[in-house]
Amino acid sequence: MKIVALSGSLRPESSSTSLLRALAGLAPDDVSVAIYGGLDDLPHFSPERDTEPAPPVVQALRELLTGSDAVVICTPEYAHGMPGSLKNALDWLVGSGEMVDKPVAALSASPSPEGGASARAWLVQTLTVMSANVVPEASFAIGLVRTKLDADGSVSDPATVAALRGVLTALRNATR
Ligand SMILES: Cc1cc2nc3c(=O)[nH]c(=O)nc-3n(C[C@H](O)[C@H](O)[C@H](O)COP(=O)(O)O)c2cc1C
Repeated sequence: MKIVALSGSLRPESSSTSLLRALAGLAPDDVSVAIYGGLDDLPHFSPERDTEPAPPVVQALRELLTGSDAVVICTPEYAHGMPGSLKNALDWLVGSGEMVDKPVAALSASPSPEGGASARAWLVQTLTVMSANVVPEASFAIGLVRTKLDADGSVSDPATVAALRGVLTALRNATR
């Protein structure tokens, strides 16, 4: 199974990205997790910029997703929404269709107890409109995230490790 992981945060020290790295580290040998690093390079979406061929960075994202079996998105919450850079990436994929029927884990993470639930709700709404297959068993908000990460960004909290393993299992079941 090939998984593409998208973090909604551009911060090098991002808790969302740390969780995705931890997920990648938990993947069994027959599962690859590629963490997409191009969010910051995507131009602002506008329909007339969606040319044929598309801008190379957009094409690269689309090809990465076409070659994937499943996607994991972990988003922070900015002012109760997903960050604009993540929404921008999704906007580039609305018309091209790579997310149609794609099993997706929709995660959010925040230092707040709610874990960015409002941003996650918006993310799920957007993915649903895009006809992605949001997998409920793989989708949840991670609250108090700073207490769940070690100083180096790794994850040793047993409940979080189990939850991330559960994401991999649920995505595998969804791709069968
Ligand atoms: C502009 C801004 C707005 C924020 N708004 C929210 C919010 O609405 N809800 C929330 O739980 N956290 C909010 N936060 C805190 C982020 O959840 C926190 O900075 C988080 O660690 C960012 O994720 P990251 O570590 O993956 O970059 C906000 C942070 C910033 C910078």
